[in-house]
Amino acid sequence: MDLVVKNAKVVTATETFESDIGIEDGKVSSLSKDIRPSGARVWDARGMMVIPGGIDAHTHLELPVMGTTSADDFYSGTVAASCGGITTIVDFVDTKPGQTMLEGLADYRNRADGKAVIDYGLHMMFKGQNLGEIDRIPEIVDRGVPSFKVYTAYRSRGLMLDDKDISRVMKKVAGAGGLVAVHAESEEIIQRLIQENVSAGHTDAIYHALSRPAEAEAEAISRVTRLAKASAAALYIVHLSSRAGREEVEKARSGGTSVFAETCPHYLVFTDEVYGRKDGRNFVMSPALKKADDRAALWEGLKAGGVIETVGSDHCPFTKAEKDWGKDDFTRIPNGVPGTEVIIPILYSEGVKKGRITNFDMVRATSGAPASHFGLGPSKGTIEVGSDADLVVIDPNKRVRLTADVLHTRIDYSIYDDIRTQGYPVLTVSRGEIVMEDGEFVGQKGRGRFVSRTATGRNGR
Ligand code: URP
Ligand code: ZN
Repeated sequence: MDLVVKNAKVVTATETFESDIGIEDGKVSSLSKDIRPSGARVWDARGMMVIPGGIDAHTHLELPVMGTTSADDFYSGTVAASCGGITTIVDFVDTKPGQTMLEGLADYRNRADGKAVIDYGLHMMFKGQNLGEIDRIPEIVDRGVPSFKVYTAYRSRGLMLDDKDISRVMKKVAGAGGLVAVHAESEEIIQRLIQENVSAGHTDAIYHALSRPAEAEAEAISRVTRLAKASAAALYIVHLSSRAGREEVEKARSGGTSVFAETCPHYLVFTDEVYGRKDGRNFVMSPALKKADDRAALWEGLKAGGVIETVGSDHCPFTKAEKDWGKDDFTRIPNGVPGTEVIIPILYSEGVKKGRITNFDMVRATSGAPASHFGLGPSKGTIEVGSDADLVVIDPNKRVRLTADVLHTRIDYSIYDDIRTQGYPVLTVSRGEIVMEDGEFVGQKGRGRFVSRTATGRNGR
């Protein structure tokens, strides 16, 4: 054996048990109460909780946005992820102008290989420029990329598709057994409000939120869930931010649509009040932060049986200087915030410790559900003999203030620095190797591998 985690209180998405965890060749090789290691490194987890490594199925590393590029690449972004207990990320291939989907995929694999410190998978962003190669969707699925993201917003960035094209993509993806992810916000509502606000001289950060109300999200979800039902497609609503949006997902699911939602750590801890702060622009992301009632609805939706099955970070940070481009004009603020490192700390400290969700809810959202929905199981998303030895040890008593010094993203501020956690990951093991210990990254650049995912849509071939 290479490593034994002794005296673990193991929590998976479905069960909890006390055990030692024996690890060999990157896999869990033994689960029993009294493993006697010979020559293996021993890590005593007495009094701590051991959960499957987190799967953050929503990151944007090195993504071009609004005249710049998100600050973390596949090295710094995965270092940050691993230090927060994430052992697999799934990023989004954004094809460059003129690039085919296959070229974009090869480009992203080149960027990530040699840099990623934990395993990574990829989704495909399906933009207007990709419509000419819609018939190649099954080929992309066969290359281990069975999920395609479409946008109902961002016309000016070439991301938005109209309903007919969304419907065509849905049908094609469903036929290939894949999953359609949607950034669901109504471009029509948003553009009218932006125009009205800008012409009235309302350009502070709060007008970003006032231009992207909950109705914009709910309208788009109501529309795309119907499109998905008509195309028999399996649907994944990314970064859900509102109660009204959650209710639309619930309505669709009870009407027979195959749909689940993701929310993000920032929607679980902040409200639009932060836009009134001096550094309000640092909190600008889309969809925008909503009200306290929306935040409560997102926590409720994470409970067993709820439609919010996963928490992904939408990690897409920008430096303070870049956020300052929009000091006097919210439309110039690059959209996006960091988050991959705080998913597990926030779900544990703000969720489990405060009684909003259970340990099982946390593990389901951070590994069990993403592994099954995104085709990463059975090797990831659980702790079983034969599964990848991707684990996180959480010390329930460790208190950490989430300042820029503590977090590993490359940006020079922390939007989370008012948060003091009760409990924190103290060890991250990725395929049997310790990559984080006591807050220090101790892994190797480039050790992460591409994970070829399997199609999980209900119309699988
Ligand atoms: O504000 C968000 N969601 N930023 C992520 C990158 C993008 O623009 O989609
Ligand atoms: Zn995103």
